[in-house]
Amino acid sequence: MRRGTRSHAPTRELRQEHRRFLRRLALLEKRLDQAEQGEIPMGRLRAMARRQARDLENHLRVEEEDLFPRLAHTDLGHPGGGIGTLLSEHALLRKYLNEFLSALDAGAAAPAGEAVAPARSFLWLIRDHIDKEDTVYFPRMDALLARSA
Ligand SMILES: [Fe+2]
Ligand SMILES: [Fe+2]
Repeated sequence: MRRGTRSHAPTRELRQEHRRFLRRLALLEKRLDQAEQGEIPMGRLRAMARRQARDLENHLRVEEEDLFPRLAHTDLGHPGGGIGTLLSEHALLRKYLNEFLSALDAGAAAPAGEAVAPARSFLWLIRDHIDKEDTVYFPRMDALLARSA
C-alpha cells in the first residue's frame, strides 16, 4: 500500500492505527487477566489474538516496505540509526506474538506461563514501541520526508 502523495504527514495513518491498536490491546490484556485468573479458558483468547496478529503484521509491513525504505538514505537508516532499532523491535514483537499464539494453539490452560509470559512481553513491548514511534521517530520521519518532498 502506497502512502506517498498526501497533503498530510506521511505517518498520519500509521499513528491513527496505533490508537486503534492501543484500544484493542487493552481488551486483549483484560481477557488475558481473566484467563490467568481462570475466569475464561485461554482458548477464548485465540480468535482475538489471531485477528490482532494479522492486523499488526499488515501495519509492520507498511512501515518496513513503504515508510522505512524512503528514509534509508538519512541518518535514521545508518547503522545504529533509529530504523535498525525499530526493525529489531518488530522482530521481537513477532517472536513474542508467535510464542503466545503457539501456546494457545497447543491448548494451554490457565494458569499457563508458556502463553502468559510472551503475551505480557508482547503487550509491554508494543506499547513502548508505539510510544517511541509516536513521540520520537515519526515526527522526525515526517520532518525528513517533508524536507525531501
Ligand atoms: Fe513499528
Ligand atoms: Fe507502528
